[in-house]
Amino acid sequence: MRSIDDIEVAGRRVLLRCDLNVPLDKSGSGAITDDGRIRASLPVIRKLSGAGARVVVMAHLGRPKGDDFAARAAGGPSLRVVAERLGELLGGCVAFAADLTGPSAQATADGLEDGQVALLENVRFEPAETSKDDSERQGLAAALANFGDLYVGDGFGAVHRKHASVYDLPLLMPHAAGDLVTAEVAVLRRLTESPARPYAVVLGGSKVSDKLGVIGNLLGLADRVLIGGGMVYTFLAALGHEVGSSLLEADHIESCKAVLAEARRRGVQIVLPTDIVAATGFAADAPSAVVSAQAIPADRMGLDIGPDSSALFAAKLADARTVFWNGPMGVFEFPAFAAGTRAVAEALTKVDGLTVVGGGDSAAAVRSFGLDEGAFGHISTGGGASLEYLEGKTLPGLVALES
Ligand code: 3PG
Repeated sequence: MRSIDDIEVAGRRVLLRCDLNVPLDKSGSGAITDDGRIRASLPVIRKLSGAGARVVVMAHLGRPKGDDFAARAAGGPSLRVVAERLGELLGGCVAFAADLTGPSAQATADGLEDGQVALLENVRFEPAETSKDDSERQGLAAALANFGDLYVGDGFGAVHRKHASVYDLPLLMPHAAGDLVTAEVAVLRRLTESPARPYAVVLGGSKVSDKLGVIGNLLGLADRVLIGGGMVYTFLAALGHEVGSSLLEADHIESCKAVLAEARRRGVQIVLPTDIVAATGFAADAPSAVVSAQAIPADRMGLDIGPDSSALFAAKLADARTVFWNGPMGVFEFPAFAAGTRAVAEALTKVDGLTVVGGGDSAAAVRSFGLDEGAFGHISTGGGASLEYLEGKTLPGLVALES
């Protein structure tokens, strides 16, 4: 992959794809609740602007629905709030275009002077961005290409998407990878090519169906796989345990059984929680109790791993030399159900080796606990992207940047 250090950007318009998909407060204010991805994009923006480029940033926010730009824009979420935060962090104004390929984007791009930065509205307001139809995506990419002389891909969190601004656009223009993408790929390569052992992987998050692919591949790489979060209840059910009203993907019980059998065959240790914090409902103040992971009462749902499990997981991480962690152990956004995720995060800070936190939720958890980010080897900006990399999949955004 060509790096931005290999290209001359002074006085040129650079179309820069970033991943600025930040979580927004759902209770009404719409405020950014974790600006980690914006901060992670600052170095490339500063580098390009410092070198005299006219920087036109493109990014997505959420998964807006609707038949056309107007319908999607009416339902939000707009990137305007991100442009404001980006401006604060850069210490200067970031021009915001209220459309993507229309008159506002044109005027904004044309109005940039050397070193200035603009952000275009949410690329996903344009249905062609995510279209399965190649020609629709290519049409959008061609329209976006009018605003730049060069393309820089630094939105690592989106490189697993075959989208117009991620895949088709770099194929149309001279392009290079930003430093974030280069750094993320270098770390993931270390996780897949001769990692130091013991190698432990901690997986959590809600959906087991999202993780089965990566678990399958990790069984050929890792020595231990620790499982928590909403996905663990399907594994507990696969072992014949009662999971009450916990999250359960019943149609994946057989796949979980197959994973457990394959792990046994390969000598990979699967570590499951021994106790669970089970609540009467999904709410921050729901009454809860610690129960055995083998017998969650019928009227209770597991919202976190319990204290014994936290100690067990910490012990399984203590002597590891490589750790990859993706997905919280419980509903860490509710303080009463955050202890398991915190315990795993703290255990990672004590590991003598390479630790990688992958995924928006796990990274947001680390920051919400106020832990020193420097105590982790690498905090990835990409959840799905890092999982698909570890799954051994081809990532379209990297394919385009490598071309
Ligand atoms: C992410 O949040 O993981 C990335 O920004 C990609 O978003 P997506 O899953 O909506 O494509």
